[in-house]
Amino acid sequence: MAQTLMATYRPLPVTFTHGRGVHLWDTEGREYLDALAGIAVTALGHSHPAINQAISEQACRLLHVSNIYHIEEQQQLAKTLCRLSGMERAFFCNSGAEANEAAIKLCRLYGHQKGIQQPCIIVMEKAFHGRTLACLSASGSRKVQAGFEPLVQGFIRAPYNDIPALETIAQHRQDVVAIMAEPIQGEGGICLPDEDYIQQLRKLCDRQGWLLILDEVQTGVGRTGKFYAYQHQEDCLPDILTTAKALGNGIPIGACLAKGIAAKLFKPGDHGSTFGGNPFACHVAHAVINTIEENNLVSQAAHRGDFLLNLLKQKLSNIEAVVDIRGKGLMIGIELKKASPEILTIGLEKRILFSLTGGDHVIRLLPPYILSEQDATAIAERIADCITDFSNVG
Ligand SMILES: Cc1ncc(COP(=O)(O)O)c(C=O)c1O
Repeated sequence: MAQTLMATYRPLPVTFTHGRGVHLWDTEGREYLDALAGIAVTALGHSHPAINQAISEQACRLLHVSNIYHIEEQQQLAKTLCRLSGMERAFFCNSGAEANEAAIKLCRLYGHQKGIQQPCIIVMEKAFHGRTLACLSASGSRKVQAGFEPLVQGFIRAPYNDIPALETIAQHRQDVVAIMAEPIQGEGGICLPDEDYIQQLRKLCDRQGWLLILDEVQTGVGRTGKFYAYQHQEDCLPDILTTAKALGNGIPIGACLAKGIAAKLFKPGDHGSTFGGNPFACHVAHAVINTIEENNLVSQAAHRGDFLLNLLKQKLSNIEAVVDIRGKGLMIGIELKKASPEILTIGLEKRILFSLTGGDHVIRLLPPYILSEQDATAIAERIADCITDFSNVG
């Protein structure tokens, strides 16, 4: 077949035709267990009846107007997200990268308001914030940046989970205006920081007059067993929080949420998006949140996550290829001794979907929150089979 798509991905040789709950079917009628949820997106599983209903209701009523008019669905969603996140105002967009772009722009406005001409944001090694030029410049992976130089200026790199390194920067630099971090690094390899890391970031930002941006694009909307991952500890409220992925369960939507001074920085004309916050995406996102809340799916993500993590530890800890098994809620990583891209094909043979992260060393599981104990057991068994087969071949 002629290559008509730009080669940004290297897709695996499978095409899915439909899905239901935790399962997907391919063109040959084969059934797969979806332990990836479109990379942390379809948290309610495929074809959820409440979401199907919300989609058809709003599609028949009104898809799009423009942000030059009042949009009731957007106001409602902003109110709900502010209640759940502790933030005060929302800017809506269509992806995680766009939410982070808005956050970066807010920090620059903040810096200029303080009289800092070249404001800088501290960002982390191994971070991933998206593929736009500012977001790839903020990301801590050369693979993401290579070939796209000149990078956007205004970022200072620090090691993740290293407060003394940030203290050193604070002593030497007068141009810092913010810290940007993921509560758990997803693309970096499911890296969990010390329990008090976000608290320490908050304290440092308070002391220095810096804004704290938490990128909750992957960790947010219940994935780790709290609606936002910063809520696992007290006193971690950020100034800016970015969210996307699971918010629409597959309908593209993102949001940059902010509180305090950060919430009031944008003035009319400073930022915008044609599609961002349209009635359709906002109505569906509201239905996603309602469904999560009505069915206690955040605590289900916590419990099923513990169950799955323990099961994986039981089944995998004796396998030599496995270095570490870690995670929070339904965000789980299994670190392998070596980079293992071939294991994705073995996964297809075993009829299970997962991805690799952390330089292809870490099997990443991000299953839907609706998964049953039986599904979790099947995931653990199939993953054990995959790693065993891979070890035998390798
Ligand atoms: C933490 C984090 N931030 C930002 C992004 C970018 O989101 P999007 O692909 O929706 O632009 C991702 C995507 O994987 C992510 O994991």
